[in-house]
Amino acid sequence: MDNLGQLVDEAQAAFAAAGDGAALEQAKARFLGKNGLVTEQLKALGKLAPDEKRERGAAVNRAKAAIEAALDAHRERLREAALDAQLAAERLDVSLPGRGAMPGGLHPVSRTLERIERLLHSIGFAVADGPEIETDWHNFTALNVPPNHPARSMQDTFFLEGRNDVLLRTHTSPVQIRAMLAHAERHSALDVMPDLRIIAPGRVYRVDSDATHSPMFHQVEGLWVGERVSFADLKGIVGDFLRKFFETEELQVRFRPSFFPFTEPSAEIDVAFMSGALEGHWLEVAGCGMVHPNVLRSGNIDPERYTGFAFGFGPDRLAMLRYGVNDLRLFFEGDLRFLSQFR
Ligand code: PHE
Repeated sequence: MDNLGQLVDEAQAAFAAAGDGAALEQAKARFLGKNGLVTEQLKALGKLAPDEKRERGAAVNRAKAAIEAALDAHRERLREAALDAQLAAERLDVSLPGRGAMPGGLHPVSRTLERIERLLHSIGFAVADGPEIETDWHNFTALNVPPNHPARSMQDTFFLEGRNDVLLRTHTSPVQIRAMLAHAERHSALDVMPDLRIIAPGRVYRVDSDATHSPMFHQVEGLWVGERVSFADLKGIVGDFLRKFFETEELQVRFRPSFFPFTEPSAEIDVAFMSGALEGHWLEVAGCGMVHPNVLRSGNIDPERYTGFAFGFGPDRLAMLRYGVNDLRLFFEGDLRFLSQFR
């Protein structure tokens, strides 16, 4: 081919038509390869006379340079096109709102405990606590529970292996003793001890398990000791608390005579709703009573001078009633399908 201008044009067109790197390399081979059209032109120079060769050689080299430049330009074009395609495919919209981590939430029993604490704190009860591994003395003896009382038997209480003086507390009442001892000690120099007003929320343990009983459950103990604390105070405070807890004035509250070794007189507290699914059913929510003189004595408090009331609520039961849950075990199985409903 003599017309080098046409050769350059053809090469340009072939490179422009190449849609990807492989096609471009093929087009390159056609012109610049070992048997390519440009190479043929170079080989043909050998047959020319020296004068012609110089002139023709310069022209072929210019054509070759032009074709190589076109090849580079198209390589660059394809590289940019590939980059553009990649950027388009991996495009991300940084202005989109995040998907968010899975939001957590408080366990319904924890929410209930916090609610109870908030309500009772607002009328002056401080939160106290005690150990879940408790001494037999704090859990039973100091609370006027005689040694032959059935609650002390191996069937009802979890004892620690190889010991009979420590156990998993069966109720939060031992916190009464700890709080009274600390209070009496703290105010021993005073003529008149200020009122002691505490609640003690926490876990308790009994060898017991069915739809309404779990071997671990919760209680909230309440204790108010002072110079003129009466059963009327107990009724007023508990009634008020329950109506606030359930957010209804339409709640019936009943004190049903009962027995606890650590209170005298003693009562169970029942509630009944005046509408809804549970309307008309009395449901037990707490035990209570006036603190037994022997219990005050265990706490280093003079029963001739001070009186007190105590109550023990079952917050798991309160949570079931508030949220309409009918199987206590659901609270302790840790199933997220259940728990996430309370977020
Ligand atoms: N400790 C009692 C129980 O576990 C409840 C209670 C607490 C009763 C305080 C009276 C006073 O059943």
